[in-house]
Amino acid sequence: MTALLEVTDATKSFGGTRAVDSCSFAVQRDTVTALIGPNGSGKTTLFNLITGYLRPDSGQVRFNGREVTGLDAGTLYRRGLSRTFQQARVFPQLSVEENLVVAGGYSWRQLLTRRVSRADRQRAGRLLEEFRLAPVADLLASELSYGQRKLLEFAAVLMSDPELVLLDEPTAGVNPVMIETMERHIRQRHAAGVTFLIVEHDMTFVMRLCDPVIVLDQGKRIFTGSPDEVQTNSLVLDAYLGS
Ligand SMILES: Nc1ncnc2c1ncn2[C@@H]1O[C@H](COP(=O)(O)OP(=O)(O)OP(=O)(O)O)[C@@H](O)[C@H]1O
Ligand SMILES: [Mg+2]
Repeated sequence: MTALLEVTDATKSFGGTRAVDSCSFAVQRDTVTALIGPNGSGKTTLFNLITGYLRPDSGQVRFNGREVTGLDAGTLYRRGLSRTFQQARVFPQLSVEENLVVAGGYSWRQLLTRRVSRADRQRAGRLLEEFRLAPVADLLASELSYGQRKLLEFAAVLMSDPELVLLDEPTAGVNPVMIETMERHIRQRHAAGVTFLIVEHDMTFVMRLCDPVIVLDQGKRIFTGSPDEVQTNSLVLDAYLGS
């Protein structure tokens, strides 16, 4: 069976910096795959290439058996590929509920003139319940804690009913209780059929949740294996200790 996501020889430079360097890997359906690597190894740039926020200089991205290289983020989102950002991105001046509705593809104008379908309102309502955000549904997103904003961003990407979700450091800057909450939601959605690719520096989180683990160093994939294999691999240890 073909992989859900295939990246082949992706390369992206910024001036003289090769952020991603002939990088190839695949994400199999129904996995929670981790993408790890030292700071500056190209993880976020790879996410940007996969999700249409940046075009690769060369190389290919295939999603669900179709080439999607260079497609814009909105098109990919509608096809079932969505992502969160390293610094949570929500609309601070919209309410929590409105953030979900806007993520469902509505413009602010439609939101203001209340032209949102009942089905989408219900979908937003279900996500508010699932993520226990219902009590804060009418607060502005700017009033939430950072952890709650990350949770809201995660809930918002589910409005499109995605097949593949990329999470960029879901636990960074988040308190331990919220880390557990985040993990529970990832597990629940994974059990419901969503595939995940997760960038994360918290190795205990990665080791208990993810398999396989892909390791990046200086823009190149240097290793793919189980959490146990990654922890004992000398290439991986060198990449971390040498950085
Ligand atoms: N827009 C940009 N312009 C110039 N250089 C960039 C840009 N984005 C990333 N880089 C550079 O590309 C390299 C890879 O950065 P990237 O953010 O992808 O790393 P990362 O693995 O996500 O790091 P971190 O773990 O710190 O988030 C770094 O050297 C970074 O400085
Ligand atoms: Mg990053």
